[in-house]
Amino acid sequence: MNSLKRKDLLDIQSLSIEEILLICRSAKYFKDIFTRSVKSVPILRGKTVCTLFYEPSTRTRLSFELAAKRLSADLINFSVSTSSVVKGESLIDTVHTLEAMKVDYIVMRHAASMAPHFLSRNINASVINAGDGFHAHPTQALLDAYSIMEHLGRLEAGTLEGLSIGIIGDIKHSRVARSDIEIFKRLGAAVTLCGPPTLVPDTFALYDVDISYNLDDLLPDLDVVNLLRIQKERQKGSLLPSLREYHRQFALTVERFRACHDDVIVMHPGPVNRGIEIDDAVMNSPKAIINEQVTNGVAVRMALFYLLAGGAPLEEMNEEQRGTIENSN
Ligand code: CP
Repeated sequence: MNSLKRKDLLDIQSLSIEEILLICRSAKYFKDIFTRSVKSVPILRGKTVCTLFYEPSTRTRLSFELAAKRLSADLINFSVSTSSVVKGESLIDTVHTLEAMKVDYIVMRHAASMAPHFLSRNINASVINAGDGFHAHPTQALLDAYSIMEHLGRLEAGTLEGLSIGIIGDIKHSRVARSDIEIFKRLGAAVTLCGPPTLVPDTFALYDVDISYNLDDLLPDLDVVNLLRIQKERQKGSLLPSLREYHRQFALTVERFRACHDDVIVMHPGPVNRGIEIDDAVMNSPKAIINEQVTNGVAVRMALFYLLAGGAPLEEMNEEQRGTIENSN
């Protein structure tokens, strides 16, 4: 495969395994660039990236912006509170405005599921989904899969086979869970969802995953503990008795962490509710790779921009050829 043969990245479902591995293996080369004193390459010089965020974000937005800057793209960002959306401008008119400005890449986060799909049908620019409603967060899933494979030395093999991955917490409201389930299953892992029944509806069994309502029973079997944020802003009605009760039953506390096996990896997409999903001491453990996930996110997003721009697989090149790619635009 020469590059990603697609205009957009909207979800994990539409990616082939080969494309998932192409992105992950390319990310490794971009991560190596971070160790240099000059961390930017001119691959996207002359291209324009717009981050179009209708919902708050720290990691995803900064990560895409840093990835674009490290590839030498021109970057513009749009935030709802300072835009004409507050004067009533519609999404389609915002899209037409960006089209008229000849933006090349739009990175979109929106509270409505499928908003990036709508955008992609109405604009020539490449659209990257940075999280839409409860539906999908494909670059988070890619960076999570990359982080596990890299940490366990599985990038070359390109598989998660034989691993038991638990996704714990507010599954119901989580676009990260839906995209992670898809990518982990596609790469061969066994996935178990865990949390209170109100936040882990049994309809999720349709995704061919196991469901557990008892974290203490589950933990000793897990190779990867992937904790999710309790999305306080999306809780309608009384889905949780209290955050204290949630912590009592489902937090990765120091005591529970002791029940995990020695090589376990602890992950969290962030932002973390410290003391609710995870105790401080566990976050500080070397087995928690939460900050590594953030670093990897920049590399994965650089790889994605590079491949959407038609870049050839870096893993098939020698060092001289890679040097030429890095220094050309
Ligand atoms: N992981 C993630 O999507 O975090 P942000 O909401 O801060 O972007």
